[in-house]
Amino acid sequence: MTENTIRKIKNTHKPAVFRQKMLDWYVKHRRVLPWRALPNEVADPYRVWLSEIMLQQTTVQAVVPYFLKFTEKWPNVHALAKADNDEVMSNWAGLGYYARARNLHKCAKFVSEELNGAFPSEQAELLKLAGIGDYTSAAIRSIAFDKPACVVDGNVERVMARYHAVKTPVPAGKKELKVLANIYSDGFKNSPSDYAQSLMDLGATICTPKSPACSLCPLNEKCTAYAEGQGDRYPIRSQKKARPHKHGYVYWIENEAEEVLIEKRPDKGLLGGMYGLPTSDWLENQTDIKHLAPFDTMLLTSTNHHIEHVFTHFSLQLSLFTSKTVAHNFKTKEQAIWLNKSEVKDIGLPTLFKKALAFYMT
Ligand code: ADE
Repeated sequence: MTENTIRKIKNTHKPAVFRQKMLDWYVKHRRVLPWRALPNEVADPYRVWLSEIMLQQTTVQAVVPYFLKFTEKWPNVHALAKADNDEVMSNWAGLGYYARARNLHKCAKFVSEELNGAFPSEQAELLKLAGIGDYTSAAIRSIAFDKPACVVDGNVERVMARYHAVKTPVPAGKKELKVLANIYSDGFKNSPSDYAQSLMDLGATICTPKSPACSLCPLNEKCTAYAEGQGDRYPIRSQKKARPHKHGYVYWIENEAEEVLIEKRPDKGLLGGMYGLPTSDWLENQTDIKHLAPFDTMLLTSTNHHIEHVFTHFSLQLSLFTSKTVAHNFKTKEQAIWLNKSEVKDIGLPTLFKKALAFYMT
């Protein structure tokens, strides 16, 4: 422990007390979530793993309907392993970060075929599985197997930053937050699962990003941010760089049978492996459509309609162009199929393309 860390925890609860306060609070205030075992139930590692993959960078509210749909279709890892990859991808549509869906299926196949359907509980073994990193391996180990691990998600970072009034801005300060979180996890064998989830729930319901309900917090008597009278000041964030803005074109191409051209995007990259409308490249500097269209621009008409979408690392505007002619003389970059409009609606398009679809379906 560095001197800085020792100074920070000097006037706080002893780790065993901190932990017990959290466990007591959790008994009364735990959230009921569809992947969560009830008290006295044994957790199902399949459901814990599936939820943790879905919850990576995604809110509980967005995940719940997807989790229910997936577990109804594929109630265990063997069922998911046997699923058609296209079906897994299309059921993931709208949840974002599509590499997760590819890795999810790869991991399910490995666990089903190579591990007899048993998820490992050791972090080193979990880390070898597709789509599982430091955070997810710790979450699965503690929540599914009730084994000690230091689980640090955004909620836990916020609680640690406020409780200790950490001045180092994140993301650089994340290392320090993890060291602090570890003090309350390391070596403690009592209720690792409940403890990990208690911090997540505290962060989600009391120690919220805005307007935290500090008066209801079980840790408030030793929380430094609360003592300073500024619960929501932490974590301090370094100034974010402005998000770049990109532009491109998206094409709605119908043939004589009123079928629409749909492409499967390459496995690598954004929206990888998902179906979508054909698009040009997306560039930061607006470029003439002639340089971007993957096929003969003479066929295309501007709709004067644009769709806007915000990705994590850039925002995007796509101008919508259309063609009603027989589009036989273009080269598409990827696997292309013609679908009628109701098939297009049902194929499971990412949100970006649903926005274009809305223009045509209204
Ligand atoms: N966020 C990430 N994992 C979670 C979990 N298991 N419960 C609630 N929120 C979460």
